[in-house]
Parts: sequence; structure tokens; C-alpha cells
Amino acid sequence: MGNCVNSPARVDNRESSFGGSSRISPKASQPSRLSNLIIPSYSNRSFTSLLSTHTPRSEGELLPSPASKAFTFNELKTATRNFKDNNLIGEGGFGYVYKGWIGKQSLSPSKPGSGMVVAVKKLKSEGFQGHKEWLNEVHYLGRLHHMNLVKLIGYCLEGEKRLLVYEYMPKGSLENHLFRRSSDPIPWNTRMKVAISAARGLAFLHEAKVIYRDFKASNILLNVEFNAKLSDFGLAKAGPTGDRTHVTTQVMGTQGYAAPEYIATGRLTAKSDVYSFGVVLLELLSGRPTVDKTKVGVEQNLVDWAIPYLVDRRKVFRIMDTKLGGRYPHKEACAAANIALRCLNTEAKLRPEMSDVLSTLQQLETSTKKGSTPTGVMSPSPHMSENHMVRDVSTLKV
Ligand SMILES: Nc1ncnc2c1ncn2[C@@H]1O[C@H](COP(=O)(O)OP(=O)(O)OP(=O)(O)O)[C@@H](O)[C@H]1O
Ligand SMILES: [Mg+2]
Repeated sequence: MGNCVNSPARVDNRESSFGGSSRISPKASQPSRLSNLIIPSYSNRSFTSLLSTHTPRSEGELLPSPASKAFTFNELKTATRNFKDNNLIGEGGFGYVYKGWIGKQSLSPSKPGSGMVVAVKKLKSEGFQGHKEWLNEVHYLGRLHHMNLVKLIGYCLEGEKRLLVYEYMPKGSLENHLFRRSSDPIPWNTRMKVAISAARGLAFLHEAKVIYRDFKASNILLNVEFNAKLSDFGLAKAGPTGDRTHVTTQVMGTQGYAAPEYIATGRLTAKSDVYSFGVVLLELLSGRPTVDKTKVGVEQNLVDWAIPYLVDRRKVFRIMDTKLGGRYPHKEACAAANIALRCLNTEAKLRPEMSDVLSTLQQLETSTKKGSTPTGVMSPSPHMSENHMVRDVSTLKV
């Protein structure tokens, strides 16, 4: 494991196209420390223990995943029509994403419009960090299969070239829908559906003892029905084993989403993901990005700005996305805001488990459909004043 307590983090200048949240990466000079990779064939649930103890070290040790195909560069060049600009669907810190077409059974390149559509991510040549993340992605996503994780169809490794082939997610990222000016506003029910499906993906990872470390709106991809799937496992990390409470790592992630105690100490737990989930839930409720450099003062940071409103149920409406035009169930919105507040607790131990978050959100959805208040969810006490805005909500019961 890395031994980088208090390791200084540098913030990359790769910024999100919205808001302004930046990637947090280790110092370039810092040697990477990754543990061994041993991947025996596995069956059913045995991957749980497997993933909890091993992380890939080099491609030489990367054994083929039973489910993903090794593509040649030429196959992917053909599938994307030579990485044509028209087929470019996105760009992130580490690469460009293109639309491509391959045969459903053969998985060999096919003509546009025939076979199945895939998303091909081509890594920019960015040295070792990009390579490490590529390797991590193949390792985890090639082995973890769940309806709320994006499917990794295959990968390509040829000389300096590194590519990843995913199932195509027709509605793109949550970030685009929430913050792109030209996007239609997402209705309340759809926001809840996205929150629930993303929570299910994260709860599954935690059950498999994997810490995701990069939960954010741009990594939540949407299918035609707005079901969410998590993508980008470049920073995923095996959780602590035995009596250990945390794993110590170089601080990495995205500003505005990473948990404060993790940034301060490098100590990573599943509760760091829970914090990030709270941030995304807040983005879903408010329609505001976690970091917004176009705003001034406290409004630049969504969490700092929203907390005083979250702790007082009479004020929760003030953080709600104006694009919703008031069309949301008020009690359920208060309850959802309360879940966000609990996830954002500065005391990591007091944050809920993702399985609890999931079941509370599901109860909320059911109660919205029935038109009643959910059982088991209580909003903060109405007499709580703004002075109690400290993010220690341990006194609040949900
Ligand atoms: N499987 C996919 N299907 C459809 N669109 C995708 C897929 N994967 C990525 N995209 C699109 O490409 C964009 C860029 O994705 P990418 O993961 O490279 O970067 P990012 O998540 O925006 O930023 P970062 O590099 O900080 O993680 C996404 O926001 C999304 O719009
Ligand atoms: Mg991404």
C-alpha cells in the first residue's frame, strides 16, 4: 500500500468544462506504490476477497479478464472511422471518447449503424499516471459486473497506445444534463431515479470491498431510461482488510467531491465515497456544480453555501434547482436534503453506509409515488437554527 500520509497534492489544470472542479493528483515526482496483482480464475462471489487484497502493478501481470476482449489498435481505428471528429463524444482529463461500432457477437469492427455502438476512450499520452489508471480500470471493471456499473467490453494495449472500449451510454453524463445550458431540465422523479441507481452501484462496490474514489457527476453515465451507471475506475482501490479501518493512499480524486478528512490525511475509507455521494445528491437537488468559479464568495463552493439551508427544513427550498420550477414534492425534497446532509458529515464515522442511503432513497421514491411521507426518514428538527450549521449532524436522526 502507498505510505503517503500528508502527501502534498497538486491540482491539475485539467478542469471540468462546467463549474471548475479539478483533478487532484499526486506529485509527479512521487514514486507510485502499488501492491501485487494476482488474478486467478474466479467464480461468483470469490472476486470480493480477490479485489480486496490486490491491485494491478503492471500490464505484464495483467491476466486477461474472462469478460473483456483485447482489441488491436487497428480494430478500434476502423470501429471509430479513424477516430473521426464527428464521432468524438467527450473529453476528460486522461483521454478522448469516441463513438464506434462493432459486431454484437464477433466484436469486430462494423459499419456505422450496424452491430452495436460502443464508446472508445483513447488515452492521451500522459505518462505513468495515465497508464496506472488504465491498468486499474481494466482490473476492476473487467471483473465487477453490475447493472449500475458501465460495462467494459475490452481494451487495447499496443506500445504507447492505451484504449478502453465501453458499452455506449446514449444519454451521456449526468454532468452534461445538470449543468449544460442547452440541456432540458431533469424532472424530480428522474433525479431520484439517477440518485437511486448511482447509490445502488456504489453500495455494490462497497459490498465488494472496493472504494471508488472518483464519484462525481461526470462519471455517472445514463442510459435511455436515465438509469445511472458508474464509469472510470482508474482511481478505485481495494478497501481495508482485517482489523484495519482505512487504507493510506496518495491523495487523488476531484476537488469539490473528495472528502475533507481524506484530503487532509490520505486515509481512505468507504465513507469518503459516501461524502462524494452527498455532494452529487446536492448537485441533483440544486442544479449547481460543486465548484463554480463564476460565482463569488461562499457560493463558489456548493457544500459551504448549502449547509445552512440544509439544516433548517424551512429553508431547504432555497437550495432547490430553480429549473424545477417548484415541481417537486416538498417533504421528499426535505428528506433527500437530509440524506445529503448526513453524507456530508465532517465526521466520517457518522456518515451512513451506502446500503442505508440506498434504502432510504428507495423509501422516498415509494412514498413520492404513493404521495405520502416516507417512514423512517425525518427531517432536521424545525427549531434548529442556522447557528447549528456545523457539518456535525450527529444529533440528527434519520
Ligand atoms: N461509455 C460512454 N458512453 C457515452 N458517453 C461517454 C462514455 N464514457 C464517457 N462518455 C462521455 O465522455 C465524457 C468524458 O469522459 P471521461 O471519463 O474521459 O472524462 P470525465 O469523467 O469528464 O473527466 P475525468 O477525466 O476527470 O474523469 C463524459 O463526460 C461523457 O460525456
Ligand atoms: Mg469520467
